[in-house]
Amino acid sequence: MQNLYNLANRSAEDVLTYAEAENIAFIPWFPIATGELARPGGPLDGPSRLHDASPAQLALAWLLRRSPVMLPIPGTYSAAHLEENVNAALVRLDDKEFEALTAAA
Ligand SMILES: NC(=O)c1ccc[n+]([C@@H]2O[C@H](COP(=O)([O-])OP(=O)(O)OC[C@H]3O[C@@H](n4cnc5c(N)ncnc54)[C@H](OP(=O)(O)O)[C@@H]3O)[C@@H](O)[C@H]2O)c1
Repeated sequence: MQNLYNLANRSAEDVLTYAEAENIAFIPWFPIATGELARPGGPLDGPSRLHDASPAQLALAWLLRRSPVMLPIPGTYSAAHLEENVNAALVRLDDKEFEALTAAA
């Protein structure tokens, strides 16, 4: 399944819940809200200071933490951003951190 879904827009939550129940991969398009979640001064700018991660990495880590069927494919023209985004898979969020980010955007 492929739907618009990111930390700031969870209107496809019901579709994701269905995908999880049926063990169907869910590809969230606009995973970092076309860059809005990565920009300085954005909703993840403050929280990223509490983690050893960039705002874009937090947006992706949140998606990966949200569901085991989640498969984000962020778009970028930058090799540096590509590396940064791949390394988001190494960012671990505990329950408290996940809930705080969920409430932040
Ligand atoms: N199924 C559908 O209908 C549908 C619709 C739309 C999109 N999609 C798919 O969804 C995927 C992603 O869409 P998208 O690229 O439009 O949105 P996106 O991944 O949410 O955002 C991409 C934007 O974020 C910036 N960015 C990426 N990594 C960054 C980083 N680490 N730090 C700062 N900025 C960063 C990019 O700029 P830079 O180039 O400067 O990194 C680009 O402007 C694509 O594969 C697209 O094909 C599917």
